[in-house]
Amino acid sequence: MKAVYCTAYGSPEVLKMVDVPKPLPQADELLIRIHASAVNSGDVRIRKADPWAVRLFFGFSKPRKSILGGVFSGEVVEIGQAVTQFKVGDSVFGSTGMEFGAYAEFKTLKERAVLVPKPESLSHTEAAIIPFGAMTALHFIQKAKIKAGQKVLIYGASGAVGSSAVQLAKTFGAEVTAVCSGANMELMKEIGADKVINYQQEDLSVHNEKYDVIYEAVNKLSFAQSIRHLKKDGVLILGAAGFPQLLRSGFARMSGRKVLTGLIKESVESMTFIKGLIEQEKFQPVLDRTFSLNQIAEAHEYVDLGHKKGNVALKVTPDA
Ligand SMILES: NC(=O)c1ccc[n+]([C@@H]2O[C@H](COP(=O)([O-])OP(=O)(O)OC[C@H]3O[C@@H](n4cnc5c(N)ncnc54)[C@H](OP(=O)(O)O)[C@@H]3O)[C@@H](O)[C@H]2O)c1
Repeated sequence: MKAVYCTAYGSPEVLKMVDVPKPLPQADELLIRIHASAVNSGDVRIRKADPWAVRLFFGFSKPRKSILGGVFSGEVVEIGQAVTQFKVGDSVFGSTGMEFGAYAEFKTLKERAVLVPKPESLSHTEAAIIPFGAMTALHFIQKAKIKAGQKVLIYGASGAVGSSAVQLAKTFGAEVTAVCSGANMELMKEIGADKVINYQQEDLSVHNEKYDVIYEAVNKLSFAQSIRHLKKDGVLILGAAGFPQLLRSGFARMSGRKVLTGLIKESVESMTFIKGLIEQEKFQPVLDRTFSLNQIAEAHEYVDLGHKKGNVALKVTPDA
C-alpha cells in the first residue's frame, strides 16, 4: 500500500511516499481502507518535534511511529474472527490515537478503538476533519460545565479546535464571543458566534467584558488579559497542553480561578455525541483546503503557517 513515512524530525520534506505491506487484522481488529485523513496541528508538532519534549515520548532521533496521521474516515474492508460490532462495508470515522498511521491507504484498528459509523450526510473528506478539533473542544467544554446563558470567549476561534469550540459552546446554550483575524470574522458568524472580535484591530480591553469561561485555544492571549476578563468564579481553559500552560495554570489557581489544561482524552462516547450533533445539523465540518496524499509536504507547509481556517483535509482516495 501507499503510505507517508516521517523519516526524521524537521521541515515538511522529511515526509516521503513509500510502498509498504498492507497490514493484516488480528482477531479483534478491523482493516480499514482510509479514504481521507487530515493534517492537524498535532501531526505538525510531532513532525517538527515542537516542543522538544515530543522526542521523549515519540522517539529521540525520529518518530518511532513512522506513519503519522491521527484521524481518518474510511471503509471496513476486512474483520478479524472475534469482531462483532462492525462488518465489511461499514463506513467509519475516528481517531487512531497515539498509534497514528492514518497517512496511508490501509490501517488496522481494534474494534474498540475510537471510531464510530460515519454520518451519511458527510463525505469521507468532511468526516475525517471532525475528530481532532471536536473531541479536543468537547473534552474541555464538558469539563467546564458550560451552561445556558453563560458568556464564553473562544480565543483562536478559527482553528480546528476553536471552530469546534464555538459550535459546541453554542449547542450548550452559551453566548459565544469568537476572537480571530479579520479574514475569518464572516466564518465565525456562519458557525454561530454571537459576537466576533478581530484581534488585529481590537484589544479585549476595548469591550470591558467579563466571561464565565475563556477557552484559550491557540496560546496567544496574554495571561494578564485572560485573568482580567474572567469572572471571579470563572473557568480558564488553557487548551494548548505544555509546560507554559502548567505554569500559567498555577498562577491562575493562585488568583482563585478554576483552570483546565493538560492532554485530552478521546473516546467512543465523545465521537458518538459529536456524530449525534452532526445528524441533528448542530455541528458542521469547517474545511479550508484539501490536498491529496502525494501532496503531503505542501499540506504540512500550509498548516505550518499557523492560519488555517478550521481544517486541512487529505484525500487518500480520489473520490473521498
Ligand atoms: N490539550 C490537548 O490534548 C490538545 C489536543 C489537540 C490540540 N491541542 C492544541 O490546541 C492548539 C490549537 O490547535 P488547532 O488545531 O486548533 O490549531 P490550528 O488549527 O493550527 O490554529 C490555527 C488558527 O490559529 C489562529 N491564530 C493564529 N495566530 C493567532 C493569534 N495571534 N490570535 C488568535 N488566533 C490566532 C488562526 O486564526 P487567524 O488566521 O484568524 O489568525 C488560525 O485559524 C494547538 O496548540 C494544539 O497543540 C491540544
